[in-house]
Amino acid sequence: MVTKQLPIVAVYAGTFDPLTNGHKDIIERASRLFDRLIIGISEKSKQGELFSLNEREEMLKEALEGIVGSIEVTRFDGLLVHFVRSVGAKLIVRGLRATSDYDYEAQMALMNKRLASDIETVFLMTSENCSFISSSIVKEVARNRGDISGLVPINVARRLAQHYKV
Ligand code: COA
Repeated sequence: MVTKQLPIVAVYAGTFDPLTNGHKDIIERASRLFDRLIIGISEKSKQGELFSLNEREEMLKEALEGIVGSIEVTRFDGLLVHFVRSVGAKLIVRGLRATSDYDYEAQMALMNKRLASDIETVFLMTSENCSFISSSIVKEVARNRGDISGLVPINVARRLAQHYKV
């Protein structure tokens, strides 16, 4: 008997305030591993965002133009596992930059597993050249007129320059 393989749908979620080359690296690699990759922009964050939800969504869509693979960008509110279910996915993709990410990631993965035992979290090791990047560090460098080329996609660098009037 031939069993039909269902498409593998994965979710990569974050605040993306703003998208960095570290996120983009994970997105590009994950899009080659799964049949569909859904990027979920969290509507709420702990810190208060620099960019509005619309701006974050626009930046992501612009930066991901040209990436081969089935990628969709959308927003979500509430629990990640509820969003994952609502889009018919079974996988959450996370990037691991360094051992310092481990505790936080383990806590999230275990809580998500407790909330939804049918959903798995898979981790991709961030590429070496992106391992030191975070959205806050990029904002700090941009705010202080430092060079952020190579840390974020060009469209994001332009938005940061406009924002900080560099
Ligand atoms: N490369 C570079 N930077 C990365 C990165 C990568 N591969 N992965 C993460 N980062 C950075 C982000 O830019 C961010 O930087 P910042 O703190 O300087 O802004 C930081 O690491 C944290 O990112 P992330 O872990 O993705 O957190 P987030 O706040 O962007 O998103 C959610 C976290 C939205 C996925 C999580 O809060 C969530 O699931 N929320 C929904 C509510 C919920 O379900 N809660 C229960 C879950 S346990």
